[in-house]
Amino acid sequence: MIPQDFLQQLLDRTDIVAVIERYVPLKKAGANYQARCPFHNEKSPSFSVSPTKQFYHCFGCGAHGTAITFLMEHAGIPFVEAVKDLAGQVGMQVPDDGSRRPPEEESRREKMFERMEAAATHYRKGLKGNEKVVEYLKKRGLAGETAARFGIGYAPEGWQSLREALADYQDPLLAEIGLVIVNEDKRYDRFRDRVMFPIRNERGQAIAFGGRVIGAGEPKYLNSPETPLFHKGRELYGLYEHRRAIQGDSRVIVVEGYMDVVMLDQHGVQNAVATLGTAITADQATRLLRLADDIVFAFDGDNAGRKAAWRALENSLSQTQDGKRLSFLFLPEGEDPDSYVRTQGADAFRALCDGAMPLSDFLFAELTAQTDLGSQEGQVRLAKLMEPYLDKLGQAPLLKRMLQQRLAGLTGLEAPRAARGPRGAPTQRPPHGRAAVQPSAWQIALQAVLHDTTRATRMAELPESERPEAVALATLVALLREHPELSTRDIVEHFRGREEQAVLEHAAAGLLAWDEDYDVEADFQGALNTLSAQAGRAQARELSGRKPSEMTPEEKTRLLAALQRRKAPGA
Ligand code: UTP
Ligand code: MN
Repeated sequence: MIPQDFLQQLLDRTDIVAVIERYVPLKKAGANYQARCPFHNEKSPSFSVSPTKQFYHCFGCGAHGTAITFLMEHAGIPFVEAVKDLAGQVGMQVPDDGSRRPPEEESRREKMFERMEAAATHYRKGLKGNEKVVEYLKKRGLAGETAARFGIGYAPEGWQSLREALADYQDPLLAEIGLVIVNEDKRYDRFRDRVMFPIRNERGQAIAFGGRVIGAGEPKYLNSPETPLFHKGRELYGLYEHRRAIQGDSRVIVVEGYMDVVMLDQHGVQNAVATLGTAITADQATRLLRLADDIVFAFDGDNAGRKAAWRALENSLSQTQDGKRLSFLFLPEGEDPDSYVRTQGADAFRALCDGAMPLSDFLFAELTAQTDLGSQEGQVRLAKLMEPYLDKLGQAPLLKRMLQQRLAGLTGLEAPRAARGPRGAPTQRPPHGRAAVQPSAWQIALQAVLHDTTRATRMAELPESERPEAVALATLVALLREHPELSTRDIVEHFRGREEQAVLEHAAAGLLAWDEDYDVEADFQGALNTLSAQAGRAQARELSGRKPSEMTPEEKTRLLAALQRRKAPGA
């Protein structure tokens, strides 16, 4: 852990504008700076940096954060390294006592990378001149150049072939990085007689392997376990090799297998990545959405493929944003992207991707299949089934509204009217050419507090709510009452790695869209009134469901108060 006070001093001496300017030319535009976004491909600038908030936000792809976040995302480096980099810039020394990985740990990590690299080289050599394996790969249509580009190799037969590549086979590090299995006092190579696919991090370093059995055998693929270098829910196979192409096309194709990525690449489709034997995680979806506007999930056309597609939908709904396009491609039964591109070619595969089923269609198709829309009960059931999925669309309010309307068309239930923010609320400035969204009262209150943190101590108690913005606001207010000196940027850094991080960052990013003459205070008061009135209505509803004769005098008083509050202005 980095000591909080060090981080604070570092941030105080850092100017986000200078940090970003090292990588991206910035132009002054009003109070902020603008640029073409470095995180996605665009023609007109939607990337904005606020010197007062020390925060950046892209209105196109949604990337946002502090100077530290920028370095992490842009250079693809971990938090501690970003801090080190910033400290170097301003001539500060990161304290040694655990502020970053202690030197021993740092060098242990370096050693881990070296061992992985040595193994990767060993495997690549194993492929050369091995007729059995070369024959197998040839039969699969893999060209030598492609194999080289992906560093594909072969782990020789024999229990301890890695001895040839590693000076100290007894080194416990080898087990830690998953190359060697230790069983009582015996140790042996994890990967034996397998075609080896190195999995690389964003810097191109091998951090894990997938190993395929030659021909038939179980398990077909053996993967590295979770290690200090490798977290399979975070990494994506092919992302290092295909990052540029993905940004260039603004589209990424997510496939299931190593060979799918490799063979698509060989045929010229160079924007595919694969998850590593699991459904895509929210973390992986977020990373991809930063690089591209368009994600196509490609699956086999069988039942298992459909199930996998549904899991992908569930995990990515909460990450998608208005303006992004998620779609689902189901290949003909018995085909995978590898076999398809080999027989039909790249253009045919791209055409399939273009015609993939939009997320909304997939969602409706799956859920209506579970209901009988001919009956009212069935229609209600559909509305019920849809609810949890709609709730996940917190970052895509427009999409959510469209889905609600579509649901209304099917069920005859009225769609909730578009939520109107209090009068004069600034709309969150939308990406180019997209319609505006009104922020909720919770969002306005949260942003107002982030904008001027003294509001936390000036405001009355808030009603309780489980909405993420409400929870974040309550936590924030409690924090500010204890530490009134924190700035917006400090707050965002304070919540790094915590549950409220995403909501707070999103709210902070929204501040960059505010006009200079926007009357924050008026909207803040309006939002508080709305919230209090809503709480009043909810309480009145709850109490009025009960017979007055069963109420305590205290409850009667509360009911009266609640009824009164219901009439509050701004409700
Ligand atoms: P598939 O079984 O669809 O294999 O597994 P594939 O990708 O088509 O492989 P080839 O073409 O027969 O060589 C898809 C992915 O699921 C993971 C791997 O990541 C694989 O690429 N998997 C599969 C495993 O991790 N272990 C297994 O035993 C099988
Ligand atoms: Mn296959």
